[in-house]
Amino acid sequence: MPGSRLPAMLPIWLGTATHEPFAPLEADAEAEVAIVGGGITGVTLALLLAEAGLSVLLLEAHSIGGGSTGHSTGNLYQLVSGGLHALAQHWSPEVARAVAQSRGEAIDLIERNIHQHGIACGFRRCALHWYADIAHAQPFIEHEFHAARQAGLPAHLASEWDEPLTTAVGPILVLPQQAQFHPLLYVRSLAQLAARPRCRLFEQSPVLHIDLERRTLATAHGTVHAHHVVLATHTPKGMHGVQAEMLPQREYALASLVEHATDTPSWPPGIYWGHGVDRHSVRQLQTAQGDYLIVVGEAVKTAQHTASECMDRLEELARRCFGVQRVAYRWSAQSYRAADGLPYIGRSGNGAYIATGFGADGLSYGTLAAMILADQIRGQANPWSELYRPDRVTPLKSARLVMEETVGTATAFVEDRLTRRPGRRADDLAPGQAAILKSEGDTLAAYRDGGGELFVVSPVCTHMKCMVRWNDAERSWDCPCHGSRFAPDGTVIEGPALEPLKRLR
Ligand SMILES: Cc1cc2nc3c(=O)[nH]c(=O)nc-3n(C[C@H](O)[C@H](O)[C@H](O)COP(=O)(O)OP(=O)(O)OC[C@H]3O[C@@H](n4cnc5c(N)ncnc54)[C@H](O)[C@@H]3O)c2cc1C
Ligand code: FES
Repeated sequence: MPGSRLPAMLPIWLGTATHEPFAPLEADAEAEVAIVGGGITGVTLALLLAEAGLSVLLLEAHSIGGGSTGHSTGNLYQLVSGGLHALAQHWSPEVARAVAQSRGEAIDLIERNIHQHGIACGFRRCALHWYADIAHAQPFIEHEFHAARQAGLPAHLASEWDEPLTTAVGPILVLPQQAQFHPLLYVRSLAQLAARPRCRLFEQSPVLHIDLERRTLATAHGTVHAHHVVLATHTPKGMHGVQAEMLPQREYALASLVEHATDTPSWPPGIYWGHGVDRHSVRQLQTAQGDYLIVVGEAVKTAQHTASECMDRLEELARRCFGVQRVAYRWSAQSYRAADGLPYIGRSGNGAYIATGFGADGLSYGTLAAMILADQIRGQANPWSELYRPDRVTPLKSARLVMEETVGTATAFVEDRLTRRPGRRADDLAPGQAAILKSEGDTLAAYRDGGGELFVVSPVCTHMKCMVRWNDAERSWDCPCHGSRFAPDGTVIEGPALEPLKRLR
């Protein structure tokens, strides 16, 4: 496998935000509610519960907002990236309308929080533009326009468009009153607002074991006991039925400093989505260092692609279509798309509260999940609980979708367990290279870092024993089955796995 020639991957949000860290958990503790995960879902929930007077303890494995939230595009919209019309078709127009309305309420909560607490995170209302970049993609835009109108949204079709949107073919769907912000500045500010004697947040505190019968969460240095356990971990940790119905995908992103920036940005504010040949999302970001253009695209199934090639293709698109010259930030992020198109939010059969299946729309869905879970935990009715309940029955017409999506996972399981891979010797690995090796009958996942140190781990994913594959852009071992990702030393980066890959000599 080739060594990566890319510079380190870093999202623009991490490169343009400061952070006041929270200490790790160092002793046993108790709380009414324990939240695992400090992304937009967990932190919004912590604030809502703290404001309601409950005692809360939030455990974040790495840093607040550093998961998918800090790797997103920072757009807030009522549509969904798979199309509201697809929801209307698979479920019903009423469901599509409820989704648009509930997502609108989540955006309103974000705006209220920002105004009420004076959070400086570049929030602005703006329009979403969705366009076809090839003629045969136009019906998608038209269907989406009709679904948006049917859902009560003030969308219109614009038939003329000036520079810089040169790739659009046919009418553009325009939906006003959507929004964008700096997701990391927002979530980190919310975390500081939530912190108080009865709401404690801990970073660098990965939960290593979950006992839902006893309601305990074990970290390396302390065990937490709570009445309610919330897994705000993007996908539930450990084994959970919803994992069989979700598709883990990775998507790639870059940010480029706009050359010769003036007071008037060369790319107008707004959300720009292309559909057709190149499915991409473009937005601008104003910072103290200048204006950046952010381009996101190349969505692919996790661990079923060569990551550096996706990054290269995105860069080529950004140069060709948007005149990008020098790339300042590159990153990638994961999403979990529910096969029936709706997230899973609420108390699941095993007793934990979950919030997952957001696809690439989880800044609004995560906020909505926090609103729903806060009401459920407090025993209050929420108008959206039923729509997103995790044990819902999937309508027959989308059952086919579930099957198609999970076939990829099943195949990955079978192939990776049974296929022999061509062997190499660890000594042959140059700095930056990784390989799956055979040694004395064992299969090993080996990586040599830039300084020459060799890391050897078991390639068997600790979640449900699929075989991991090397991600050459982010230097991680990724699992194709449910999206667990591991650092070269085996440490869990994200996904449902709780335990690290077994370290081997
Ligand atoms: C490329 C891309 C762009 C996107 N852009 C947008 C966008 O513009 N708008 C939008 O609405 N959505 C977007 N999304 C989706 C959105 O980013 C996510 O759905 C959302 O951030 C999920 O938030 P979360 O809080 O649920 O998860 P996360 O932000 O991932 O937070 C989960 C947290 O749990 C922690 N955790 C995990 N395991 C443990 C453990 N064992 N112990 C303790 N902590 C743990 C993680 O470290 C992490 O910080 C995008 C997705 C992708 C892939
Ligand atoms: S993530 Fe489930 S088996 Fe690896």
